[in-house]
Amino acid sequence: MSTTVIVGAQWGDEGKGKITHAESENADAVVRYGGGANAGHTLVVDGKERVTHVLPSNIVRAEGRAMTGPGVVHDLEVVRDELRIAQEYGASVFLDRSAPIVLPIHKLIDGAREASAKGGKLGTTKRGIGPCYEDLVSRRGVKLGDLTSERRLREALTERGYYAERQSVARHHGAEPMSLDETVEWCMQFQDDIVPHLADVRHLIAQMVQSRRNVLFEGAQGVLLDVIQGSRPYCTSSHCTAGGASTTMGVYGFDRVIGVAKAYLTRVGAGPFPTELHDGEWLRKKGNEYGATTGRPRRCGWLDLVALKYACRVGGVTELAITKLDILSGVGDVYVSDRYLFEGKPLGKLETLTSRVLRESKTQLVRFAGWDEDITEVRKIRDLPENARAYIGYIRRYVGVPVTMVSVGPEPQQVATL
Ligand code: IMP
Repeated sequence: MSTTVIVGAQWGDEGKGKITHAESENADAVVRYGGGANAGHTLVVDGKERVTHVLPSNIVRAEGRAMTGPGVVHDLEVVRDELRIAQEYGASVFLDRSAPIVLPIHKLIDGAREASAKGGKLGTTKRGIGPCYEDLVSRRGVKLGDLTSERRLREALTERGYYAERQSVARHHGAEPMSLDETVEWCMQFQDDIVPHLADVRHLIAQMVQSRRNVLFEGAQGVLLDVIQGSRPYCTSSHCTAGGASTTMGVYGFDRVIGVAKAYLTRVGAGPFPTELHDGEWLRKKGNEYGATTGRPRRCGWLDLVALKYACRVGGVTELAITKLDILSGVGDVYVSDRYLFEGKPLGKLETLTSRVLRESKTQLVRFAGWDEDITEVRKIRDLPENARAYIGYIRRYVGVPVTMVSVGPEPQQVATL
């Protein structure tokens, strides 16, 4: 009987999908609480790879409820595709009726801003995430519940000149947006698919929490991409910490917050990355580090413990799941960063990792002897090769939270536990 949150403890792409899928086995509900189709959670089910972008990872299970909260921005084409997957597996899906819809104009503005940014690109996923969240905090935009009638939809689009203002923004960036009528028509094509799943998800979750059911809150992206705690502007527009689950779902005091971190580090999009390997192609190839959503090659580097410890602290993490340790087998010595020098001095332990701090810090790397053994069959952390255990032990001691799971391969059963 517990509430558990899963957060990414790096810049996203930590392998949260696999950990969430494993943890969802005993969950009465899994609720995705932030982000949108910028995420890609990869699961392997019956040997088949599935990637979910908006709906939670348990849409591939008949047991338990799959839900999205009011802080998730819904890309309707993606949601429709994922509802089909859910149907294949007999999953029950509930979508919060207050959640924002990502309109075609949001994607248009996102893409046009990136195209016209020249040197200053953020490297967004161009899924309309930023523009859609702008509308949420501006207290306007279209909600899933507005799909119940064309009248409501039109009202939402025209209130206080909303859609006309958005059109002028698109035009400012040299893009020609859909007309109001086309947008209404575009939205209405999803009515039959979406409306049967609408619910007050916060109410359902509150009831489940009160009756001590197992609820799993599925985060997206990673703490280092959080709109406040991440390195603005090189971040996303949602709250990626455990606090994001509280803010959006109204639930506090979780029993467990599992932070998921890769045994090394990757980042997609622009922004500072102190431990980046500029000759990291070997790691990209070995780890198959290409975006699940955009296919973009990920930037690769060594594990940054300064950043991980920060992410665990501000993200509320109480235990760590380390993924892709098998990728480091046979690579020779491995390194971690455990100290930043900022403005000529060691960075204080509790300082905030802003863009400036990340950009201007020099890292110091610590070397660990590697291991050559195949670890893909290991199921207990204590049975890992000595050097791999030393590596995991160092992470645990440095960050100050237990490492309860180590993923040693892509298959669901390839996890070593305590
Ligand atoms: P946006 O979320 O599409 O606005 O992109 C903002 C930044 O977050 C970019 O650097 C993206 O590459 C990054 N980002 C967004 N979602 C993910 C994700 O799921 N994994 C990794 N990076 C992401």
